[in-house]
Amino acid sequence: MIRFKNVSKVFLQKKNTVNALQNINLEIETGDIFGIIGFSGAGKSTLLRTINALEKPTSGKVIVDGDEIYNLSAKKLREKRKNIGMIFQQFNLLETRTVWENIALPLKLNHTPKKIIEEKVEKILRFVELEDKKDVYPGKLSGGQKQRVGIARALATEPSILLSDEATSALDPKTTDSILALLKKINKELNITIVIVTHEMNVISGICNHVAVMENGQIVERGDVIDVFSEPQADITKNFVKTVIQDEVPEKLMQGIYEDTRNYELLRLKFLSSDSTESVLAQVNKKFDIETNILFANISEIQEQILGIHIVQILGSNSEISKAKKYFLEHGVTYRELEYHKKKLKEVV
Ligand SMILES: Nc1ncnc2c1ncn2[C@@H]1O[C@H](COP(=O)(O)OP(=O)(O)O)[C@@H](O)[C@H]1O
Ligand SMILES: [Mg+2]
Repeated sequence: MIRFKNVSKVFLQKKNTVNALQNINLEIETGDIFGIIGFSGAGKSTLLRTINALEKPTSGKVIVDGDEIYNLSAKKLREKRKNIGMIFQQFNLLETRTVWENIALPLKLNHTPKKIIEEKVEKILRFVELEDKKDVYPGKLSGGQKQRVGIARALATEPSILLSDEATSALDPKTTDSILALLKKINKELNITIVIVTHEMNVISGICNHVAVMENGQIVERGDVIDVFSEPQADITKNFVKTVIQDEVPEKLMQGIYEDTRNYELLRLKFLSSDSTESVLAQVNKKFDIETNILFANISEIQEQILGIHIVQILGSNSEISKAKKYFLEHGVTYRELEYHKKKLKEVV
C-alpha cells in the first residue's frame, strides 16, 4: 500500500512560490490500477515522483509498503527504488544503445550476473512482444514500440509498483489502447500495483479501478472509477467525464421539449448491467399510463461493467410518473431529475 499523509510540496521559483501539493492524504491499495487525473500544472507528476523519492515533500509522509520513503538509509532507499519502476511520456531511452541493451541496463547497474541478465531480458522481450526488435536502436522504433521498451526496462528489476507519468500522452489512440492493454496484463499477470498519471479520461476509464482528480495541488474528488464516471461531483471532474460520456441533450432536441405543453419530467437514468434499461423502459411503458421518449443514450464499458446513461422524457400524470420512478428504483435503475430544462422553459415561455 502507498500512503500519502499530509503531503505538501512548495517550489521556490525565481519570482514566486508554487504550492504544487497541498496537504495530500491518499491511500493506494496493493494490486490496484490507480489513476490520477488533472490538467497540466495540477501537481500530478510531483505527487507521483514523491513515491520513488525523485521529489522530496516539503512536509508530510509518503509510506510505501510500511516504509516511510524519506526515513530510509541510502542503501535501503536504493533497494526500495528497485522495487518501483517508472515510465514516461518521452520514453527516456538511450538512443545509442539497442533495445536489448536498454532493457539490460538497470540489471547491469545492479551487478546482476550476465547469464541471469540474458535470461531476464529474453523473458521480458517476449512479455512486451518485442523479441524481433532486440538489436534495433530506439531511433528506428515507432512511439508504441519505444514505450514497450520503456515498460520492459521498468520491469527488468521485477518491481512490485509501476509508476506511469503520461505514458500514453504522445501516442495515437490505437497505440494508446495497445499500451493500456499491456499495462493491464502487467497488473494482472505480474501482480504489479500501477499508479497512472494522465490528463486523458479514456486512460482512466480504460484500465483504472480507482481515480483521484487533482486541481491546484489538491485532490478534489476520488473514488471507484465507475462511481466517479456515473456521478461526477466537482466541476472539473464533470468536464473530464464529458470528454468520454457526452450526456447533454443536443439543443435541437431540447427545442421540441421546451415547446411541449404536456405534463412530463426529464430523468437521467443510470444502470449498471447489460440489458436492464431497455427492458425496464419497455416494462414501465406497459405497466403505467405513461409515454417515454429517449433523448440521449450512452453505454460505456468501464472495468468490464456496462454503464448506461439515458436521458428520458416521461410523459403522463404526476401519479403515473411517480409509479414509474418507483419501478425504476426497484429494478436497479437509479435516476436524477433534470431541472435545467425548466429554467430554460421559463426563458422561452
Ligand atoms: N522542479 C520544479 N521547480 C519549480 N516548480 C516546479 C517544479 N516542478 C514542478 N513545478 C511546478 O509545480 C506545479 C505542479 O507541476 P507538476 O507536478 O509537473 O504538474 P502536472 O504533472 O500536473 O502537470 C506547476 O506549477 C509547476 O510549474
Ligand atoms: Mg506532469
